[in-house]
Amino acid sequence: MTESQAINQGLDGVVIANSELSFIDGQIGKLVYSGYNIFDLAEHSTFEEVVFLLFNKRLPRQAELDTLKAQLVGNRAVPAPIVDMLRSLPSTTHPMAALRTGASMLAGWDPDVEAMTPEANLRIAYRLVAQFATVVAAYHRVRQGLPVLPPRDDLSHAANFLYMINGVEPDEATARTFDVCLVLHADHGFNASTFSARVTAATLSDFYSAATSAIGTLKGPLHGGANEGVMEALEEIGSLENVEPWLDQALADKRRIMGFGHRVYKALDPRAVVLKKFSQRMGEITGKRKWFDMSLKLQDLMFQKKGLYANVDFYSASTYYTMGIPMDLFTPIFAVSRIAGWSAHILEQYASNRLIRPREQYVGPMDLPWVDIGAR
Ligand code: SDX
Repeated sequence: MTESQAINQGLDGVVIANSELSFIDGQIGKLVYSGYNIFDLAEHSTFEEVVFLLFNKRLPRQAELDTLKAQLVGNRAVPAPIVDMLRSLPSTTHPMAALRTGASMLAGWDPDVEAMTPEANLRIAYRLVAQFATVVAAYHRVRQGLPVLPPRDDLSHAANFLYMINGVEPDEATARTFDVCLVLHADHGFNASTFSARVTAATLSDFYSAATSAIGTLKGPLHGGANEGVMEALEEIGSLENVEPWLDQALADKRRIMGFGHRVYKALDPRAVVLKKFSQRMGEITGKRKWFDMSLKLQDLMFQKKGLYANVDFYSASTYYTMGIPMDLFTPIFAVSRIAGWSAHILEQYASNRLIRPREQYVGPMDLPWVDIGAR
């Protein structure tokens, strides 16, 4: 047997590859996408521009951006059998499970799926960025018994998503706020779901398999599912006065408080800095400031009592909720954005690949004598 090896549980701090996509400095709360600081991208860019940046590792010129937008618009519609499948799901199916199923099923209608060339995989990447939003919106409509709204060619990716779920074109301010939310969630290094996508891609399995692996991984409450958990907690707390009593009891019960802590950030998540402003602004615009006020108090108390910082999921919850987005769509929205980063990482993995296969420390019994079933 190999002598006992140091085990790095959860691969904490383990570096396994070079990447040109995201840089995170967890000590100071800094995030960069291919050279550009997240604060600049939040201020100046659009989700479509960030998709170009992640796929090409540079910002687009106007003509290139126009071409990308047309490519996404032209790929928004999904084949009718996908919508039929979504309609056949029990309406209690979690939207992340509906997206996982729909995204996987899309492979059947993609002529490029088994080609495994850089050009074919890039075409798939654009299709998935365009169609994740359509699958999520279509399921949300059919589970309510409402007609599915076909994508509109005249709206941005962000505005079109809000239109497809609500049936109403969003106002400019709401559309821009949601567009920046998509920018903020687009990529984040080798997080668990991106790592899942890369592990699957590293076997040279197809693009859809890698994307489906990522969706299943993001769903978990320790990862992308936390934003829904934050809103559930805020609803459970119910009022500003109950924040501290609720938190004291939750910590006494050793509960994980969703939206706090991070494997890499040991400072405030820069995305939370932006989302905090959105939560306050959306609360003021809609007259539902209570969720922001409660979040602010919970953030202060969590730092005081546990020394933990808010992460990206904390303020995205109250931002989406005051936008009128149902809680169980929060994680699918995370996926609607993160498919851009997942796709960029899948392409990067294919371009410079080695099978990802760590080792384990075997601690079971060894060389036991065989015993026939009658003698056991
Ligand atoms: C995302 O990796 C990424 O980049 C992810 C992401 C992305 O963009 O892809 O940023 C998105 O997933 C953000 C994280 C969303 N998850 C949550 O908000 C769930 C709540 N957070 C925790 O479960 C936790 O902070 C993790 C899972 C995020 C990180 O966990 P680690 O690094 O494994 O840390 P740990 O579990 O070892 O915790 C260290 C200590 C523990 O205390 P002790 O047991 O040592 O006394 O901190 C405590 C934990 O109990 N702790 C918490 C806590 N987070 C950590 N205690 C209460 N509530 C929490 N949220």
